[in-house]
Amino acid sequence: MKIKNSTALVTGANRGLGLAYAKALLAAGARKVYAGARDPSTVPALEGLVPVKLDVNDAADIAAAAAACGDVDLVINNAGIIGGEPLLGSRGVDALREVLDTNLYGVLAVSRAFAPVLRTNGGGALVTMLSALSWASLPGTSAYSVSKAAAWALTNGLRNELRGQGTQVVGVHAGYIDTDMVKDVDSPKSRPEDIAQAVLAGVEAGDSEVLADDTARHVKAGFGAAPSLYLG
Ligand SMILES: NC(=O)c1ccc[n+]([C@@H]2O[C@H](COP(=O)([O-])OP(=O)(O)OC[C@H]3O[C@@H](n4cnc5c(N)ncnc54)[C@H](OP(=O)(O)O)[C@@H]3O)[C@@H](O)[C@H]2O)c1
Repeated sequence: MKIKNSTALVTGANRGLGLAYAKALLAAGARKVYAGARDPSTVPALEGLVPVKLDVNDAADIAAAAAACGDVDLVINNAGIIGGEPLLGSRGVDALREVLDTNLYGVLAVSRAFAPVLRTNGGGALVTMLSALSWASLPGTSAYSVSKAAAWALTNGLRNELRGQGTQVVGVHAGYIDTDMVKDVDSPKSRPEDIAQAVLAGVEAGDSEVLADDTARHVKAGFGAAPSLYLG
C-alpha cells in the first residue's frame, strides 16, 4: 500500500520508535496519524498528528479508539515493554505475564479491534514491531524473548486470518534501537528514524517481513548455521 494519503494509527507513539514512525508517516505524506498513548498529553504537537488515549492493556481504550479512528487503513503495533526478570527468578511467572500482557495480548487486542476497520477501508496494512530477540534469547531478555517469539507466531497467524480481506500483515525484526528501552545497553544501536524508513519502504513494497537492520538479517541468516545462532 502507499503511505501517501494513508491514515495510520501507531501505538506507543508519544516517544521512542513510535514517535519516529509517526514522523516518518507524516513526512511520507500520510493524511493523518493517530498517535496512541497511555497519556495523550505526552504526544508532541505536530500538524497531522492526532493524540488518542490508548493503553493496549485497556479494553475500553481500545474499543473507544477503534470507534473514533474509523478511517484508519494502516495500523502499527509498536507499543511494548521489556522485562528484565529471569524466568526462574522469584517474580519470573508474574513478570512473564506482565510482558505478555503488553507485547502479546495487547497486540492481539488492538489487531482484533482494528481488523474490521481495515476491512472497511479496503484491507490496508497491519504492522507489528517484533525483534531479533523473537528468535534469540540473551541473558536478561528471557521473558521479553518469549513475548516477541509469541508475537511473531501471532503475526503469522493474523497474516493467514486477514489474507481474505486483503490486509497486508508485516512483522518487523530489529536489533538494538536507540531509544529509552535500551538506554543502559552499551552496544551498537540503529537510529529509530532508519528503522521507521525501512518499515515504511517494506509496507510500500508489499512485504510480509522487514529485517530492519544488520542484526536482524544476521540472526535470521544464523538459522542455517550449525549450531543455529539462536542456540546461543
Ligand atoms: N529499542 C530497541 O532496542 C528495540 C529493538 C527491537 C524491537 N523493539 C520494539 O520496538 C517497540 C518500541 O520500543 P521503543 O524502543 O520505542 O521503546 P520505549 O522507548 O521504551 O517506548 C515504548 C513505548 O511503548 C509505550 N507503551 C508501553 N506500554 C504500553 C501500553 N500498555 N499501552 C500503550 N503504550 C504502551 C510507551 O508508552 P509510555 O510513554 O506511556 O511508557 C512508549 O511510548 C517495542 O515493541 C519494542 O519491543 C525495540
